Amino acid sequence: MSFFKQTIRDVPLEGQTVLVRADYNVPLATDGSIADDFRIRSSLPTLTYLLERGCKVVVMSHLGRPEGRDIALSLEKVGVRLAQLLRKDVRFVDDCIGDKVHQVVKHAPKSDIVLLENLRFYPEEEADDLEFAKKIAKASGARYFVQDGFGVVHRAHASTHAITLCLPAVSGLLLEKEYVAITSAMRSPERPLVAVMGGAKVSDKIGVIDELVKVADTIVISGAMANTILAYKGVDVGASKVESDQQAIIQTIYEVAGAKVGSDHVSDFLVLPTDVAVAKKVDINEPRRTVKLADIAKDDLALDIGDETIEATVKTVSAAKTVIWNGTLGVAELPNFAHGSARLALALATHPEITSIIGGGDTAEFVLNWDAKKGKSFSHVSTGGGASLELMAGEKLPGIECLLDARR
Ligand code: 3PG
Repeated sequence: MSFFKQTIRDVPLEGQTVLVRADYNVPLATDGSIADDFRIRSSLPTLTYLLERGCKVVVMSHLGRPEGRDIALSLEKVGVRLAQLLRKDVRFVDDCIGDKVHQVVKHAPKSDIVLLENLRFYPEEEADDLEFAKKIAKASGARYFVQDGFGVVHRAHASTHAITLCLPAVSGLLLEKEYVAITSAMRSPERPLVAVMGGAKVSDKIGVIDELVKVADTIVISGAMANTILAYKGVDVGASKVESDQQAIIQTIYEVAGAKVGSDHVSDFLVLPTDVAVAKKVDINEPRRTVKLADIAKDDLALDIGDETIEATVKTVSAAKTVIWNGTLGVAELPNFAHGSARLALALATHPEITSIIGGGDTAEFVLNWDAKKGKSFSHVSTGGGASLELMAGEKLPGIECLLDARR
């Protein structure tokens, strides 16, 4: 499947000044340092491509959700990490508009990289303010705009939308790779396609589940989301958290699934846990106890799928040609309740012939920590949280739609 937008390979940008939107909204540790640099590393192919072509590269991003200027959310530390990864100086400017930016970019030599300060220090960024976008374009002196911040293309902000009204706008290599990997798995997968859905809430994933019911061969439901569906099915899930307002939505999912595979086969299509790992509270010291569904006590919290369900999930996944995994299978930050997620990661890593597409957010964080090869054990680990969910749900993403169309 090819991308429907022009990319940096399609425009004559040799030696030009290029403005790149990255998504450096990285997780920060309590001491303010970068807890995970996956998003920074993922931006390197585009930056290297441009630097190798003699471009002056001006990079912009947001970090967190500041209200006004908040130095704790400065991108300066990202610049330091980026310089280490590129093995090259990165000039950091503590603003993203104005004469200071203009002067630094103007005096930077070709094949140099300038990183601008957090766009969200200005409320105009999230307001998709055209005047603000014009100021960014003018200060950067750029000839082209490159969108490579896949994680933020579901937002119509000044740096993802209005900026495309100021400069010819094309995609970077990361955005193209994410789009192709995710949409190929959703639209033309090698079958069987098994989707493993986990995470906290049914309500967060409803758009994706609707799409997956149409395209997947099997959907394995786990994580806290499974508790809500088990409760809907009449299982007493003890003290586990359930979303009681999702009944009508779940009923519709089951109706659509029944129409697709026949009501007798729905339980083989939408696969629920047969046992769960429980604890009395969400605590790192709580032991793991696996119980059958009928044995969940009133004060038990289901925090992971059980051992029998883990084996069944591994078997289902191992027989797949394509696996889409979104959401951890339990409370994966607690080692005793990360068994399901770890076994699934292992099954995918040891079956490289399976195309594995792993959704961003918590799932990406888990597999990147788990994987000694920093995500390379899988076909694709997405850098996007909300963006990957919306893309899987078949939505049009504003930050992609506004880029120049591919020439046919
Ligand atoms: C993300 O982390 O999902 C993106 O960077 C978007 O951030 P936002 O949810 O604060 O807009």
